[in-house]
Amino acid sequence: MNSKDMPQNSTSFAPGEESQATSPRMVNADNQGRPLVVVHDIHKVYQVGQTRLHALRGISLEISPGEFVAVRGPSGSGKSTFMNIIGCLDRPTQGSYELVGRQVSQMSTRDLARVRNRLIGFVFQGFNLLSRASAKRNVELPMIYAGLTRELRERRAREALHLVGLEARMDHKPAQLSGGQQQRVAIARALVNSPSLLLADEPTGNLDSRTSIEIMAVLQALNQRGLTVVLVTHEPDIAEYTSRQIIFRDGRLVRDEPMSNPRDAQAEWASLSLQNPDEDY
Ligand SMILES: Nc1ncnc2c1ncn2[C@@H]1O[C@H](COP(=O)(O)OP(=O)(O)OP(=O)(O)O)[C@@H](O)[C@H]1O
Ligand SMILES: [Mg+2]
Repeated sequence: MNSKDMPQNSTSFAPGEESQATSPRMVNADNQGRPLVVVHDIHKVYQVGQTRLHALRGISLEISPGEFVAVRGPSGSGKSTFMNIIGCLDRPTQGSYELVGRQVSQMSTRDLARVRNRLIGFVFQGFNLLSRASAKRNVELPMIYAGLTRELRERRAREALHLVGLEARMDHKPAQLSGGQQQRVAIARALVNSPSLLLADEPTGNLDSRTSIEIMAVLQALNQRGLTVVLVTHEPDIAEYTSRQIIFRDGRLVRDEPMSNPRDAQAEWASLSLQNPDEDY
């Protein structure tokens, strides 16, 4: 894999180009200026046997459309618990959560699942791909569950793989792809239902530093198309590619600051690829 396969935001993502023309829905950037996420004083208490574990202790924040947020903090500080709540995988024990202007903290499990499927895309540390299925088939899976026609599934899968720069590897199975490419397939899969919010819990956790830059380049390019991205990372370096950093400690938000001059992952990835043109990442 080399830089020519990368989605270059300023080139292949330019308006009017094929990618834009064929995939207008993949990135849902339209939210009319309102905050996308508004959490107010959320708490999460897990009950394990006799023990009550207070994982979140009063988190309040807003995330606007188009932001690229890094969530950092020590192990056990509540990052994944927070992501699960804003991703509608779980509900807070206390406090309110509004997603795209809708109060979701009190929703039934079924309504929550509906909101999640419509608005959220997830990417995890392990790529969670089906090993026997091609990249395209893996990307199609959420749409099979959603009952879309074969034709629509195929078109959207192709568009999503194009967005992550992997159209040419569509028929490859996971074992025939590099780690970075596998994570791109997982990102493409997260895009097919046109989410408003992409949540990535340590998406570079299993990847070496070069490949991490590759994945950050993909996420930056998607963010530049308007997709709101929230990413959990342990790595301060990875947070430098985002535009806002939030730090959790013991279930509390202890820092929330904009990152001025985020690093440019696409440029760094392109120059790494130029230095090693024959290497297959
Ligand atoms: N399902 C659960 N049941 C009980 N306790 C849980 C559950 N999930 C998380 N916890 C606890 O809540 C606290 C916060 O966990 P969380 O997974 O959110 O941390 P984290 O910041 O994501 O950590 P890491 O960096 O290790 O992934 C921890 O003490 C954890 O043990
Ligand atoms: Mg975690």
